[in-house]
Amino acid sequence: MRYSESLIEEVRERNDIVDVISGYVQLKKKGSTYFGLCPFHNEKSPSFSVTPGKQMYYCFGCGAGGNVYTFLMEYENFTFPEAVEHLAERCGMPLPKKEEDSKEARKEADQKTSLLEIQKEAARYFYYQLKSERGALGLSYLKKRKLSDAIITRFGLGYSNKTSNDLYFYLKKKGYQDELLKESGLVTIEERGTYDKFWNRVMFPIMDVRNRVIGFGGRVMGDGEPKYLNSPETKIFDKSRNLYGMNEAKNSRRPNFIICEGYMDVISLHQAGFTNAVASLGTAFTSGQASLMKRYAQEVLLTYDSDKAGVKAALRAIPILKEAGLSARVISLSPYKDPDEFIKNMGSEAFEERIIQAKNSFLYEIEMLKREYQMEDPEQKTRFYQETAKKLLGFPEELERTTYMEAICKEHQIDYEGLRNMVKRFAYQMGGQPLVTIKTNPKPIQKQGKEGGIKESQRLLLTWLIEDTSLFEKLKNWISPRDFTDEFYHIVAEMLYQQYQEENTVNPARIISKFTKEEEQREVAELFHTTLQTPMDEKQRETAVNETVYKIKQNWCEYAGSHASDFAELEEIKKVKRSLQDLHISLT
Ligand code: GTP
Ligand code: MN
Repeated sequence: MRYSESLIEEVRERNDIVDVISGYVQLKKKGSTYFGLCPFHNEKSPSFSVTPGKQMYYCFGCGAGGNVYTFLMEYENFTFPEAVEHLAERCGMPLPKKEEDSKEARKEADQKTSLLEIQKEAARYFYYQLKSERGALGLSYLKKRKLSDAIITRFGLGYSNKTSNDLYFYLKKKGYQDELLKESGLVTIEERGTYDKFWNRVMFPIMDVRNRVIGFGGRVMGDGEPKYLNSPETKIFDKSRNLYGMNEAKNSRRPNFIICEGYMDVISLHQAGFTNAVASLGTAFTSGQASLMKRYAQEVLLTYDSDKAGVKAALRAIPILKEAGLSARVISLSPYKDPDEFIKNMGSEAFEERIIQAKNSFLYEIEMLKREYQMEDPEQKTRFYQETAKKLLGFPEELERTTYMEAICKEHQIDYEGLRNMVKRFAYQMGGQPLVTIKTNPKPIQKQGKEGGIKESQRLLLTWLIEDTSLFEKLKNWISPRDFTDEFYHIVAEMLYQQYQEENTVNPARIISKFTKEEEQREVAELFHTTLQTPMDEKQRETAVNETVYKIKQNWCEYAGSHASDFAELEEIKKVKRSLQDLHISLT
């Protein structure tokens, strides 16, 4: 970071968030909060709130949120230092001269800017080639795949020539040095010579949400290996935090996203009017991508290929989406392999129909589970029921569980009472408790869910600490920052504890400024604005706090156990484990 923390803080304090945001959004005061129409998504009634007390904003519709810096980064597309500079100027505060900035940081920022320029130049070059005589092959390939001129332009598709280093020379002529070009992932520079990474391929520029080209995918025309070549990750290309097509899809008026496997699928869907389609970047779906989608929508429709690998990918993605708070449904494309083929054969109306019929992700999981068992065999059949019952325990709400149980029984002709009894029995087995107390334990036995459940508990506890600082005292014998094993929450916890220790209170907006990435700022902002969905009375709250602390401590024991390096540490873990038996925290 280029500016000192105290400077960043001072600038922030001198720029009241309500004043600043009022310059962009019309705000109306309601109680201690201001409301307005969210500038980050389309809406008719105001769900965008600005809280002067916290010096933060938050949109209950799209989840955008942060402090005054985050706002400018999102609205004006400023980098963090740019936001600081802008606000310093606004309040007439002098900043240290650029020469005094850390040389390293400047160099890094400059390098990123140049890398972005290079990608943009390359995209222009490929596009130009496609439209020139040399690109006739590429253009006819795209035409053969039924892409219109308009869609080719909208996605900036291009062509890389047969000559193996003309992009390199083009960029050289523009004045970029070898050292930088190496970092771009577009060329290989070796003693033997210099080569373009892509040649004789149709090119798909990959853009981030701000429409900046960050990398490329290149497809062979016809058969050949590898079918797709993708840019390697670079300082500006993070495959786990971007989605192909997102720059367009985020502006779509549709209420959800369609996630598919291939670039061609995305383009084909957009062409057919499904402008909410996105794809991951040749790698498995990640939680970073899920939280990117969460910024703009609540629901995701999955259209992975209908083959074995596609099912596996869908089953992997569902818990990740759930964890990010998105609901998911699965579109069946059968008998076609992918959305591109489906649209070409059946048209967009039929696809719209499939969207309506898309299957709830839990019911899809059960259906896929069933395929693993031979249902003619009584033993296998019973095992399927058992697995189903266990999965049902993942629902914290009784009513929800019942609804799913009914749906499953109907779909798979299972005896309702029988399944219900099985679910109850499993609930007892898991710690000898009746079902109700599983409430705060959203994913008790699902394998993939385990880590997620812990993350959720840590997040929940942070939310409580922020909402009610008296908890710091009440939990002091039990919880400290080290119990937060999730890396991100750990950092937040350390800051919170430090603030509480030094000032007896917490200061959300200041914590946000310590993160310089928009994504992270958002995540902190969300923490500070989460209010519990279900209002609880004191007794319920106490139970919930106790159970959450218990879970977090147990997780810490496991975590510490697997990282312990000496006997003393193991002894301490044992001690903590023993002490958990008499865990009781009173909130009154
Ligand atoms: P078409 O065959 O042109 O219709 O491609 P598609 O978009 O249907 O892609 P496919 O389903 O074959 O693959 C899905 C995605 O996986 C692609 O968009 C690429 O991101 C990635 N992919 C496919 N083949 C390769 C490969 O050979 N190497 C790498 N690295 N990635 C690939
Ligand atoms: Mn395809």
